[in-house]
Amino acid sequence: MWPRNALSERLNIRWPILQAPMGWLSTPALAAAVSNAGGLGGLGMWGFAAEDAERRISGFRQQSPGSLNVNYPLWPEPSISKETTAAMRAHLQTHYDAHNLGPVPQPEGEAGEVSREHLAMLLRAKPQLVSFHFGLPQTDVIEAIKNAGIFIISSATTVREAKFLEDRGVDAIIAQGTEAGGHRGTFSGAAMGAQAGLMALLPQVVDAVKVPVIAAGGISDGRQVAAAFMLGASGVQLGTAFLRCEEANVLDAHRAALRRAEDSSTIVTDMITGRPARYITNRLANDLIASGLEPVSFPAQYSMIAPLGQTGDGELTPLFAGQSVAMGRDTTAAEFVEALADSTSRRLRAFAPQ
Ligand SMILES: Cc1cc2nc3c(=O)[nH]c(=O)nc-3n(C[C@H](O)[C@H](O)[C@H](O)COP(=O)(O)O)c2cc1C
Repeated sequence: MWPRNALSERLNIRWPILQAPMGWLSTPALAAAVSNAGGLGGLGMWGFAAEDAERRISGFRQQSPGSLNVNYPLWPEPSISKETTAAMRAHLQTHYDAHNLGPVPQPEGEAGEVSREHLAMLLRAKPQLVSFHFGLPQTDVIEAIKNAGIFIISSATTVREAKFLEDRGVDAIIAQGTEAGGHRGTFSGAAMGAQAGLMALLPQVVDAVKVPVIAAGGISDGRQVAAAFMLGASGVQLGTAFLRCEEANVLDAHRAALRRAEDSSTIVTDMITGRPARYITNRLANDLIASGLEPVSFPAQYSMIAPLGQTGDGELTPLFAGQSVAMGRDTTAAEFVEALADSTSRRLRAFAPQ
């Protein structure tokens, strides 16, 4: 039952514990420490050019001989409307003025895709796993990656999305419950209020597909990992809990907020990046939600918000986190993975027949 199963065998990992690839917050040092401890380290490639992405993979390989997950969130070119932009820039100006940041810049953003350069790099570097968020790339990209012997996974937030991913040939599916920190992986337009928490979503996805299912959203300790296994998961993916590891690239104000957060500190909003994501509430989130404005198209909205995070002011910094944020503690990735594997084993033994 634990730890070996088809997923851990295929990915050559001791524990089916995946560290969520979290864009620039996930570092080669974090991913390497997780893989060295028996889990699966992940590197998010959001915003990285192909040569920088390759450098990140080399950084991982210098520190670990283990398996690696390389991640691409996917989205179309943002369509930036003049009216929405003008209203949002005018609204954000007060926050910019409070920190003498000058005029709010014009929003900008490109499509998120696996470019030809990234694909060539992936086929050279051959990580064990390539994962996607917000759907899948075009069929030829999927085929090229799969033909190179690389495992492919993506997130589903509904059963319908899980079936779509399975039909397109993914090797495993991440069931992302609404508890999750960071962006909702939703790509079918399902309304936020209609999406399920992990306890409800996971068994329904497990029943609907044949490929292994990885549970994500609000998992932080061995009780929750054991519960996910009981609900039919073959693995777990944790993001927020890894933000507390010293190897993660987390702004000081964000770390301070993670330490202070409580069970009811987080909300989901699309006002920070233009796409729904879960954050610890602060003045920025509350103010944007109360404004009644529309966000500029994802991810261009975030290009106006990011400079506020560089001021060091935690009230104006995007504070990505999931609903179990208060269960986290300051640690190292190796200690965390070992403690999680150990406490999961103890929980599962407690339920095993005598
Ligand atoms: C700060 C942060 C950034 C994230 N960035 C990504 C990302 O770039 N790609 C991705 O597939 N998932 C990303 N996620 C979502 C995770 O894959 C996962 O679904 C989530 O962390 C699970 O919930 P948890 O944070 O409660 O553990 C991110 C999550 C967080 C907290």
